[in-house]
Amino acid sequence: MAWVLRCAGLLMICCLSTEASEGGKDKRFNQSARVNGTGFAIAAESKQLLSSKALRGTKKDSEEIPDPNEEEPIPLPSIHFIAEYIDMASKQINTELAYIPARPYLNIITNSSPIQLQMAGIAAWAYDLEYFKMAYPDGWAGGWKVVAEYINTTQSLLVDGHDVVALLAKGKNCAITFSGTHGLADWSTNLNIQQASLPQCGLFGVHEGFLEAFLQFMLNDDWSDSFEPYLAENCSEGIHVTGHSQGAAVAAVFAACMNAAGTNLTLPDLWRFGKLVHAGRTVRTRVNVTDLHGLGGPGISTTQLWNYQRPDGVFPGSRFFNQDYMSFDPVPWLTYAFRYTHPRARTVKMSDRPQNFGAMTEESMFEPTIVSFVPDIMFHLPPEYLRRIVMAIRSVSVKVVQARGLPTRSARPLLGDKPSIYATIEASNRKWRTTPRTSKKKNMASPAWGETLHLEEYEPGDELEVKVWDAVWPWGVDKAVGTVKLNSKAFEPHGFDGWVSTESGIRLKVSVVISYRDMDGI
Ligand SMILES: *[C@@H]1O[C@H](CO)[C@@H](O)[C@H](O)[C@H]1NC(C)=O
Ligand SMILES: *[C@@H]1O[C@H](CO)[C@@H](O)[C@H](O)[C@H]1NC(C)=O
Ligand SMILES: *[C@@H]1O[C@H](CO)[C@@H](O)[C@H](O)[C@H]1NC(C)=O
Ligand SMILES: *[C@@H]1O[C@H](CO)[C@@H](O)[C@H](O)[C@H]1NC(C)=O
Ligand SMILES: *[C@@H]1O[C@H](CO)[C@@H](O)[C@H](O)[C@H]1NC(C)=O
Ligand SMILES: *[C@@H]1O[C@H](CO)[C@@H](O)[C@H](O)[C@H]1NC(C)=O
Repeated sequence: MAWVLRCAGLLMICCLSTEASEGGKDKRFNQSARVNGTGFAIAAESKQLLSSKALRGTKKDSEEIPDPNEEEPIPLPSIHFIAEYIDMASKQINTELAYIPARPYLNIITNSSPIQLQMAGIAAWAYDLEYFKMAYPDGWAGGWKVVAEYINTTQSLLVDGHDVVALLAKGKNCAITFSGTHGLADWSTNLNIQQASLPQCGLFGVHEGFLEAFLQFMLNDDWSDSFEPYLAENCSEGIHVTGHSQGAAVAAVFAACMNAAGTNLTLPDLWRFGKLVHAGRTVRTRVNVTDLHGLGGPGISTTQLWNYQRPDGVFPGSRFFNQDYMSFDPVPWLTYAFRYTHPRARTVKMSDRPQNFGAMTEESMFEPTIVSFVPDIMFHLPPEYLRRIVMAIRSVSVKVVQARGLPTRSARPLLGDKPSIYATIEASNRKWRTTPRTSKKKNMASPAWGETLHLEEYEPGDELEVKVWDAVWPWGVDKAVGTVKLNSKAFEPHGFDGWVSTESGIRLKVSVVISYRDMDGI
C-alpha cells in the first residue's frame, strides 16, 4: 500500500516552470521557496483537477509578498497544489499506514532513550492508544501510562476519526500528546483562513483552525475534570508537550498559552459554521509547560509563539521535519508562504545528515523554506519520523569477544593447519553496503578480539548474522566456517551479552550494545 501510494505520487511530475524564474527582494519570502515548489508529483487520476486548480492562480508581481488575507487569485499555485496533494493523499492513507508501522520503533524505545525520542514516541502513541494500553499494562519506556484522555470521534479524515489528546504520566513526570487526525485536509486547503488572537494568554495571529482545535479541548469537561487537576497536583517534575502534524500545532498553542496564563483563564465562545459549539467560560490553568516537541508540524501563527516562562522566549525541546534531496514532508513547509511561523524552539531537519537550527534563528522560525522535488505524504507520517530519529541518535554495536571450538583445517601448501580467523556481521534480511568485520587472528585455536564494530546501517528489526571466516586469501577464497543468527528480539532493546553457537558447533561470545548519541550532536 505504501509503495503503491508512493508510485502514484511519482507517476506524474508537473512542472509549471514559468513560476520558477522569478527573483525576490525580501529575503524571507524570496522565490526560492517556490522555485522547485511547482514541480509536483501527484496521483495521475487527479491530474485534471490539480492542473486546473494550479493554473487558476495567476502570477503576481514577483516582488510582492503574498498577502494571506487576499481572496483570489491565489498567488501561489504551488502551495495550492501541495494542499490538494495532501488532501488527496491523506484520504488514501488508512489507519494501518499511520500507526502499525510505527510499533517496531515504539517497542524499542526505553527509559534510557533521550527525552526527544520518548516524546516523538508519545506523539505517535496518540494514534494508537488502545494498543498502548494493552501492550504496556505496566507502562511504556520506563513507566509511561495514560492517566487522562480526551477523544472526539465526530470527524474522520486521516486516521479513523479520532481527535485525541492524552495525558501520560511516569512518576511525577507528565506528557500531553495531541493527535493530528482531523483537519489535515481541512486546514491545508484553507490557508487563507483568518487568524485569531487570545491576548489573555499571549496568542496573536494564530491560524484559526488550530486555535479552534485548542479551544475545543480546553472548553471540554475533560480538561476541567481530569487533565487540569492531575497536571496541577501530580506533575511536579515536568510537563512535556508533544504532537504530530496538526497535533504539533495545537500542542504549541497549548504550551504557549499555558505559560502565559495565570492560574485561571477566560476563554471565548467557540463557534463553528455559525453554530455555537461550546460556550466560553473561565477554566483553571495551574500548569507550566516544561518543554515542547513536535513532528511534522505546520507553521502556526503570524506572531511567533513565545515561551513566557523564559526571558529569551525559547521552548526547550525540538521540532522535527523530514526532508531529503528528492522528497520532503510538505506539511511543515506548506504554511511558509503565508508567513505562519513555527514556535520559538530548536528545529531539526531530518535528512541523510540531520541539520540543526537554533531556536533563536530565522531559519527555525520558517524552515523549511525550500522544498525538494517530490512531496511525499509518507514522509509526513509518524513511522518515518520515528525511523529517522532512531537512526540518527541510536547506535548499535557488536563485539565478537572470542571463539571456541574452531575446526582444524586440513593442511594445504603454504597454510598451516590452524585457521586464521575473523568474523563479520551482516543483516540476514537486508543487504548492507558495508560489512563490519573484525581483524584476523592468526593461528589461534581460540581467538579473542577487542574491536567494537559499529553497525551504521542497522535498522530496527534487522536480524544479525555473525559469520566466522577462515582467511586463506591470497591462496584461495576465504571460507565461512560457521554462521549464527541473532534475531533482533534477542538484543532489542537492552542489548545482549552471552555465548551462542554456530550451526557448525563453534561457540562465540558476543555482546550487542545499544546506546544513544547526544541529540545536540546530530
Ligand atoms: C532566498 O532565501 C534563501 C533561504 O532563506 C536564501 O538562502 C537565499 O540567499 C535568498 N536569496 C536571495 C536572493 O535573497
Ligand atoms: C531545484 O531543482 C534543481 C534540480 O532539479 C536544482 O538544481 C536546484 O538547485 C533546485 N533549487 C532549489 C532552490 O532547491
Ligand atoms: C467534537 O467535535 C465536534 C466538531 O468539531 C464538536 O461539534 C463537538 O462538540 C466535539 N465534541 C466534544 C465532546 O468536544
Ligand atoms: C494524583 O495521584 C494520586 C496517586 O496516584 C491519585 O490518587 C490522585 O487521584 C491524583 N490526583 C488527581 C487530581 O488526579
Ligand atoms: C480561579 O477560579 C477558581 C474557581 O474556578 C476560584 O476559586 C479562584 O479564586 C480563581 N482564582 C483567581 C486568581 O481568579
Ligand atoms: C508557573 O510559573 C510562574 C512564573 O514562572 C509561577 O509564578 C507559577 O507559580 C507557576 N505555576 C505553577 C502551577 O507552577
